[in-house]
Amino acid sequence: MSILIDGKALAAEMRAQLCERVKNFKIEHGKEIGLAVVLVGEDPASQVYVRNKIRACEEVGIRSYAYRLPESATQEEVEMLIDELVASDHIHGILVQLPLPKHLNERKLLRRIPPAKDVDGFCAENVGNLAMNRETIVACTPFGAMKMLEKYGIDPKGKRAVVLGRSNIVGKPMAMLLLNADATVTVCHSKTENLKEICASADILVVAIGKAKFVTADMVKDGAVVIDVGMDRDENGKLCGDVDFEDVKDKASYITPVPGGVGPMTITMLLYNTVQTAERS
Ligand code: GUN
Repeated sequence: MSILIDGKALAAEMRAQLCERVKNFKIEHGKEIGLAVVLVGEDPASQVYVRNKIRACEEVGIRSYAYRLPESATQEEVEMLIDELVASDHIHGILVQLPLPKHLNERKLLRRIPPAKDVDGFCAENVGNLAMNRETIVACTPFGAMKMLEKYGIDPKGKRAVVLGRSNIVGKPMAMLLLNADATVTVCHSKTENLKEICASADILVVAIGKAKFVTADMVKDGAVVIDVGMDRDENGKLCGDVDFEDVKDKASYITPVPGGVGPMTITMLLYNTVQTAERS
């Protein structure tokens, strides 16, 4: 059995540290740190994520402002809301939960959030800084994955890292973080040839494709570190990851479980990014 990377425990440890920073901010500035969360529509997964984010804010003392707009909200309505949040002194971070309903122009909406309030690290300036290995706000899920590696003393330097998935939210920033940490990085996706062989060559394998139990033991090198970003449902409707945990657990040296792995860290890094933007404001 490999060593379980306990995201829940690390998240709790980091949240305790964040509580202190939140308290100090209040003492120094005489106001709370504020995070605005915008949810448009009724996507059930997004509703759960947003609820968890708001609960996590409460836990560390960050004031959350939740805006739930109907599926029918227009581009202008959402833009007006974002503009108000940008102008507010009480709001230090703005998060627009994705995916947005199809009729909305995601790119145009996100562009209204200035880099200094972009707690998701999605805007071009923050992504550009990451690409150039400069200090910046980093997307929460890959940032959390890097913190987990660090906590367990896993140094990517010189290692062969394979990232399965090329999304803007996880795959691409994950690849850049690993590259910045001196790994040799390969990004695989749905059009990749010889996918199994490439995955099986990885010392560090990060999987973020949204396909239940896609990665099996034959795709994992003996002793590899496996980071599972998936949040899927198996054939019985049970929460599982993109990695077939039971199949892979004896082959990997370290592995993240689902639930209790990357998930709690994603939310913790959102809190971390919010505290960072507040302290810099
Ligand atoms: N949808 C899925 N993951 C994320 C995330 O990290 N941030 C936002 N804003 N939306 C998401």
